Amino acid sequence: MIEIKNVRKSFNALEVLKGINLTVNKGEVVTIIGGSGSGKSTLLTCINGLEPINSGQITIDGTDVHAKGTDLNKLRRKVGIVFQQWNAFPHLTVLENVMLAPRKVLGLAKEKAEEIAVKQLTHVGLREKLSVYPNRMSGGQQQRMAIARALAMSPEYMLFDEVTSALDPMLVGEVLDTLKMLAEEGMTMICVTHEMAFARDVSDRVAFFHHGVMAEIGTPDQLFGAPQHPDTQAFLASVR
Ligand SMILES: Nc1ncnc2c1ncn2[C@@H]1O[C@H](COP(=O)(O)OP(=O)(O)OP(=O)(O)O)[C@@H](O)[C@H]1O
Ligand SMILES: [Mg+2]
Repeated sequence: MIEIKNVRKSFNALEVLKGINLTVNKGEVVTIIGGSGSGKSTLLTCINGLEPINSGQITIDGTDVHAKGTDLNKLRRKVGIVFQQWNAFPHLTVLENVMLAPRKVLGLAKEKAEEIAVKQLTHVGLREKLSVYPNRMSGGQQQRMAIARALAMSPEYMLFDEVTSALDPMLVGEVLDTLKMLAEEGMTMICVTHEMAFARDVSDRVAFFHHGVMAEIGTPDQLFGAPQHPDTQAFLASVR
């Protein structure tokens, strides 16, 4: 379980997260929507300890992410993160790219790392691309490779930050389908997205962020069907 308690985060004088409270249970899919600069990406980077926080607490299965002495490398094996774009190593094949972290971080033998990489690349529909170089793949295939790379670490939680927003509209669907598959398999996920139909379809709960505040959270039916907060209403009207 991921527990976020009254988290505040500033970059210099700018307070970007203004007291965020959110608990994500095992198996739950929570999507975060909201305008540019509302703090969505910052929250994800705080959850896996890439950024420090100013106050409050984030715990993952009881481990305080920002406590002194927390083993962040160990924590990040448990919490995978996929960003808008991942720069794969161009001189390594798709298979080699996905094998890298299991080899280097988990210290697995080559055969074992390869077995895991093949399994995860097959899982995301890239079985045919193992020996291809990343720049020979479409943007959608590259994003699915990035997802396979994260899955190869056997995470228990996955954080996705607008993984489709750099893609040609034609390629968005295949990546969203991959996320949906993971959700259906029971992966615990927090997805920042601007794909409203996707959020409505896969989420257990949808959170709307506005200027560093989680203005509203509810089931997709509640949030999209009957938004309570005027800022949520205005945002949804602007994206429809
Ligand atoms: N490393 C940083 N240093 C200084 N300011 C930052 C940094 N990262 C983010 N910010 C600022 O924090 C605010 C929130 O940024 P964040 O990236 O979390 O927004 P977001 O909701 O993800 O927006 P978008 O939808 O555009 O991705 C913005 O005003 C941004 O300029
Ligand atoms: Mg962002």
